[in-house]
Amino acid sequence: MNDKFEELIESYITHKVGISDHFLSGALAGLLQAHIARLNKDGNMKPAGTGNDQLLQHDRSVRSDKIHWIDKKSKQQDELGFLDYIEDFIDYLNRTCYTGINAYEFHYALYETGAGYQKHVDQFRSNDNRKFTCISYLNDNWTEADGGALWVYHDDEIQKILPTNRKTVFFNSSELPHEVRIAHRSRMSVTGWLKRV
Ligand code: OGA
Ligand code: MN
Repeated sequence: MNDKFEELIESYITHKVGISDHFLSGALAGLLQAHIARLNKDGNMKPAGTGNDQLLQHDRSVRSDKIHWIDKKSKQQDELGFLDYIEDFIDYLNRTCYTGINAYEFHYALYETGAGYQKHVDQFRSNDNRKFTCISYLNDNWTEADGGALWVYHDDEIQKILPTNRKTVFFNSSELPHEVRIAHRSRMSVTGWLKRV
């Protein structure tokens, strides 16, 4: 486990966007995929907004994914496995990098065909408690032709990341503008923020 954590942190330190290709186990990724499919079938994946609290907006030309927030009190075995893993990662990060993370929030995300998310930064203007963004992708056999790449805007280049199954990306929530290019097939992920509150 620690080698996955180390890989993600090491690549974050070196490249600003940490990437670990097999951060999630195949078994856990499979459970989470099935969970999103079930939430969607039951009408529990809801259009996402942008901004927070009073500033929350729903503009499908800016952002058109559907999300479902993970409830930490959930008794779902698949979710508990995921949250335990994230909590272990946070402990490791705090121990090795003194990051002082003391809270987190995660949601499932589903981009159906034609959905995307325009260039943005994750930290809210009115609240800086989101410190790191952590996204795990759940898409078997994703290719460039499927669209839906994560584009990260660095000073001198655009980094293009395919949302392939079990891959996790990790970056600073206040620094790096990024966007989700239009997906040409359903694109699933579990996305969240490590916070200091
Ligand atoms: C987000 C986001 C990127 C992705 O949800 O804020 O930028 O690749 N997601 O899903
Ligand atoms: Mn984002």
